[in-house]
Amino acid sequence: MERTILNTIRALDTSDGAGVRLKRALGYNPMVRLDPFLMLDAFSSDNPDDYIAGFPAHPHRGFETVTYLVEGHMRHRDHLGNEGDLKQGGVQWMTAGRGIIHEEMPQQQDGLLRGFQLWINLPAAEKMKPAGYRDIADTEMPRLDLSTGGQVKIIAGEVTLGDEVLIAPVKGGATDPLYLDVVLRPDESLTVPVKTGYGSFLYVFEGELLVAGETVSCDHLATLTDGDSVTVQAGKKGARLLVLAGKPIGEPIAQYGPFVMNTQDEINQALSDYRDGTLTA
Ligand code: CO
Repeated sequence: MERTILNTIRALDTSDGAGVRLKRALGYNPMVRLDPFLMLDAFSSDNPDDYIAGFPAHPHRGFETVTYLVEGHMRHRDHLGNEGDLKQGGVQWMTAGRGIIHEEMPQQQDGLLRGFQLWINLPAAEKMKPAGYRDIADTEMPRLDLSTGGQVKIIAGEVTLGDEVLIAPVKGGATDPLYLDVVLRPDESLTVPVKTGYGSFLYVFEGELLVAGETVSCDHLATLTDGDSVTVQAGKKGARLLVLAGKPIGEPIAQYGPFVMNTQDEINQALSDYRDGTLTA
């Protein structure tokens, strides 16, 4: 059964970190979440004032952050001594688990910085596991050139498109995420299989899209009904979009800023661990 649109959400202008201007597409309203996804931020600017301050050292506990840099250059560092250079097209996959303190800082003085940060929840059994991270270079993520002119890049998971199977370096896990970056030519359409029962949404960041007869404009997120596939068709100017799907966790969510746990007691514990310097211990 084809998935259709459940809700469309316009991304809201906001800022985070030390003053990075961004559009928050998911996560500004705690009532509008899409299990297992907690938040999606989009940043795109060629004005250094919008991004140069970056995201200085800050903590996380209880979930994963996935930073996808479409254009530009950022460096990240964490308390474990991991340091990575996120270059154009690359992804940093950070599992906060029990705790991580990290920073993400732009490594350019000018030019376009464009990308996304996605937060994916972890189930209770994995919220306190050791922190870990992975850098995935642009060239490690498989792409498929569509016969109709567009292109699909797979950032996480596995998908079969026609006769082609695309498998990302990051695959499986408790939430089994599918994460695609899709470029479509004008009027081009594409059907993407999505596992039944998984939470799924689209985010359009260039052009516009038609999904089951409904238009999704640029900078809008569309949550999808259940089903085993979604068919998207680009508008007259083409489209570029993210396609996300993941296995719902179905657990209560208690969130305070960068900590996402199951109960308020666990949030209080995270705050006191952070104060005591044992968040990451
Ligand atoms: Co962070």
